[in-house]
Amino acid sequence: MSGKADLSINICRINFPNPFLLSSSPVSNTAEMVARAFDKGWGGVAYKTIAHDRTKIIHPSPRMAAFNYENKSLVGLQNVEQTSDRPMADNWADIRWLKKNYPKNVLIASIMGFSIEEWVELAKMGEANGADMLEMNFSCPHMTVEGSGMKVGQAMELIEKFTSAVRNTVKIPIIAKLTSSVTDITVPALFAQKGGADAITAINTVRALTEIGLDDFVPRPNIHGKGAMSGMSGPAIKPVGLKCVTELAQCKDLHIPLIGCGGIETWVDVAEYLMCGASAIQVTTGIIHYGQRIVEDMAEGISYWMQDKKIEKLSQVVGKSLKNTVATDAFDLSRQGIAHFDLDKCIGCGQCHIVCQDAGGQGLGWDGEKRRPVPDDDHCLSCMICGMVCPVKDLVSYQYKPDKKEFFPPANS
Ligand SMILES: Cc1cc2nc3c(=O)[nH]c(=O)nc-3n(C[C@H](O)[C@H](O)[C@H](O)COP(=O)(O)O)c2cc1C
Repeated sequence: MSGKADLSINICRINFPNPFLLSSSPVSNTAEMVARAFDKGWGGVAYKTIAHDRTKIIHPSPRMAAFNYENKSLVGLQNVEQTSDRPMADNWADIRWLKKNYPKNVLIASIMGFSIEEWVELAKMGEANGADMLEMNFSCPHMTVEGSGMKVGQAMELIEKFTSAVRNTVKIPIIAKLTSSVTDITVPALFAQKGGADAITAINTVRALTEIGLDDFVPRPNIHGKGAMSGMSGPAIKPVGLKCVTELAQCKDLHIPLIGCGGIETWVDVAEYLMCGASAIQVTTGIIHYGQRIVEDMAEGISYWMQDKKIEKLSQVVGKSLKNTVATDAFDLSRQGIAHFDLDKCIGCGQCHIVCQDAGGQGLGWDGEKRRPVPDDDHCLSCMICGMVCPVKDLVSYQYKPDKKEFFPPANS
């Protein structure tokens, strides 16, 4: 891994060599694949969720469907996968082997009990088999076992009950992995903290329907003629993940670290989650799409960006955007702008004029002879949709109005 910035970070008194973790899913299902990921530079893993052997897990087939949008594939991924279908003993043996052979990488055992006794038993096993941390999966949106997964993440008293039972059982740090399918994610987070959780992972897949077949009328994935509301992941959910992490980081009563997850593919995505308040991040769909090697780009990109910004330690990035993320009533309304056109670059397609007429301030005129837009600063709303649809880079730019104070004076001025 190249780049000179210090990417290590301490979370719950555990040293993470870097903030890049495999999230609990098919990308973290066996010791062999996790070992290869560590060799490539991933700093840790939340191992595929382990439930008790008592419940036999049989995955629906097929268990995933790609959500492609226009010419971009895997904008989202819809899945109905359950917890690990491997025998518990095999998973614990893999975790022991990984800890022995990769002592510096962080090993998080993700667990899901279907009763309080099972939570306690699984937690004991996780600790005894060498896990550095436990991640309690309160968030899978499509468990077939009633009263598990996301159903727990939506039932505050269960979150607290299960977390405190595990807290009273093990010494290693506990992470609560939360669902975004709640009105306010800080509420379950505070119950997890009350129960003794040391950190929060946000978010799991988002309960969703991505596509329905026009020929067969079946939601995807089509499992022998039936589909279901299930979990969506990938770039399409990143805005939800960033929102949740920011809300958690801004919650004054929450004092535990955050691990961000959802739609991360590049170092820019990582930087955004860190700025929102995550101390580390987890990835699944990015690896399903591009392979484990994306970590090399993440490490290099973050390092060069930190050097460019003269940031020495990763912890200094954490939460950097929070003071700039305000309630909408805190904007400076005295600052108004206009769309500025560099007409030398214009190719005369007319898109800007069409959208201004159909969805904007209707001020942008059109010279049909020259095939050029005719700006009208007085009627420009500065909504910038003309620039969004313009196919030429940097032709349209946002500029502040010079006479800003005369335009829309704020109520309190
Ligand atoms: C096929 C699949 C299986 C998953 N299984 C689990 C799981 O067993 N436990 C868990 O906590 N999350 C599970 N997840 C959720 C991921 O860990 C992650 O939270 C989610 O996919 C969002 O991240 P991403 O956009 O990087 O994929 C699974 C996701 C996928 C796509």
